[in-house]
Formats: sequence, structure tokens, C-alpha cells
Amino acid sequence: MLRNKVAIITGGAGQGIGRSIALRLARDGAIVIVTDITGKESETLNEIKNLGGQGMALRLDVTDPRMAEDVAKKVYDTYGHIDILVNNAGIYPFKPFLEMSFDDWYKVININLNGTFNVTKAVVPYMVKQKYGRIINISSIAGNIMGFTGLTHYSASKAGIVGFTRALALELARYGITVNAIAPGAVKTPGAMQPGSEEQVKMMEQIIPAGRLAEPEDIASVVAFLASDEASYITGALIIVDGGWSIT
Ligand SMILES: NC(=O)c1ccc[n+]([C@@H]2O[C@H](COP(=O)([O-])OP(=O)(O)OC[C@H]3O[C@@H](n4cnc5c(N)ncnc54)[C@H](O)[C@@H]3O)[C@@H](O)[C@H]2O)c1
Repeated sequence: MLRNKVAIITGGAGQGIGRSIALRLARDGAIVIVTDITGKESETLNEIKNLGGQGMALRLDVTDPRMAEDVAKKVYDTYGHIDILVNNAGIYPFKPFLEMSFDDWYKVININLNGTFNVTKAVVPYMVKQKYGRIINISSIAGNIMGFTGLTHYSASKAGIVGFTRALALELARYGITVNAIAPGAVKTPGAMQPGSEEQVKMMEQIIPAGRLAEPEDIASVVAFLASDEASYITGALIIVDGGWSIT
């Protein structure tokens, strides 16, 4: 379905959603560029190779626009095209507003929102040149559909991503580039499931109509769809993937 499409994933080298997306796109035939700041980028790439897939592992701090430009250039010079960009890198440190420092705020905005801009800015000129592209931004129900305490900075960053997605979709539609966002609810990733959160998980399982939290694969399958030609007429959309949580 994605045979020989070149996909860059940010934040792809943890145990979370990015890794799942990388593996899913590789299974669908894409050449996957795993990027992250963990130093474990090649671990995800090795998993991809074990599946018979191919790609590259590159360090990319999304807050560094120069690094983003270098990664985009290296990928384009190697493969001659960049078809898919998944802006997945993000952090969600809980902090009540009254305790939030300026640094707390700027850090989250810088990684989640500015990071999405930096990497998109580096990749889009290549997509425009080839008149093809799929940009998929991982947002959240936080800030867009629901409010969550302790997440004012995060909610602002994730709502910002949706505004960015819609405006960019308008500008890039004429170049054959779609820009969409996904709003996951609660996803079972090590980042979200800190030790001691068992009680909270049980509570959420009772609240969420689907009766469970999302697996990272539930998000990866939507990314795979949006990246495919099946979704070529979808742009500027926000796809909610939350097991019905936000409609309760
Ligand atoms: N887990 C959830 O419940 C949930 C819900 C909604 C949205 N999301 C979003 O999904 C995305 C992935 O979440 P996750 O739960 O898999 O998180 P995670 O912490 O498991 O993974 C995030 C990845 O981003 C990377 N990262 C952090 N700062 C970076 C930087 N400056 N440059 C490049 N990479 C960086 C980390 O190294 C990590 O590999 C995030 O954008 C998050 O906001 C998660």
C-alpha cells in the first residue's frame, strides 16, 4: 500500500506511538526514516529490518531547525523523494497552571508546536517540488475537544497544531500535499503509563466507552490510512481516535 514511499517519523525511537507508526508504515512497504533524540533510533530501525523493511536511523531534535534541514536534505539526497512526514515528537509533563514557570511553558510549546513547524518547514519544499506529500500531525483531544487540568501548556500546543494543520492544508492542497491531524485520547505508552497510574487507568477504562485505552497500533493504523492513496481527498481534517471518550 505504501510501497517505496519515503516516510520521516519524529520521536520514533521510544516505546510509544512513534515506534508503532514506524513499524506499521514499514509493514505497509514504506522506507522509514526513524528520527529521535533518544540515541535508540537504530533499535527501531533494526526492528524494521527484522520485518524485511528498510530505512535510516537519524538523530533529530525537532527544536533545532538546522538539524531538521540537514535530515530532510540527507533523506532527499539519498532517496530522491520524501513522501510522508509524521510529526509525532511531543512531551506532556503535568504541571498545574499556578505552579507553571515560564520555562515549563516554553519547553512544551517549543517541542510540540515549534518542533512541528521546524520539521514541516524543512520537508515541505521537497514535497512541493515533487508535487506530492502526506503530512500527519499527532495532536490530542486535549485542547481541541476536552480540557485537562495540569495541561494548559500541552493543550495550547496541541490546539496550535490543529490550527497549523488547517491553514497549511489550504496552502499546500494545490501541490498534491495533504495535511491532517490525529487527536488520540489516552494511549497505553510508557510515557503516559507512569508507575502508580494503575488506579487512574482503571478509572479511565470505566469512563471510555470502548472500555479500554488505545494501543499505539490504534493510532498507527490511522496514520497508515492518511498516508495512503485511499485518503488522497482528505486534507485539513482532525481525526479523533479516542474510543468515544470525548463524546461522553
Ligand atoms: N500517550 C498518550 O496518551 C497520548 C495521547 C494523545 C497524544 N499523544 C501524543 O502522541 C505523541 C507520542 O506520544 P507517546 O505517548 O508515544 O510519547 P513518548 O514519550 O513515548 O514518545 C515521545 C517521543 O518523542 C521524543 N522526543 C521528545 N522530545 C523530542 C525532541 N526535542 N526532538 C525529537 N524527539 C523528541 C521522545 O524521545 C520520545 O521518543 C506525542 O506528540 C503526544 O503528545 C499521546
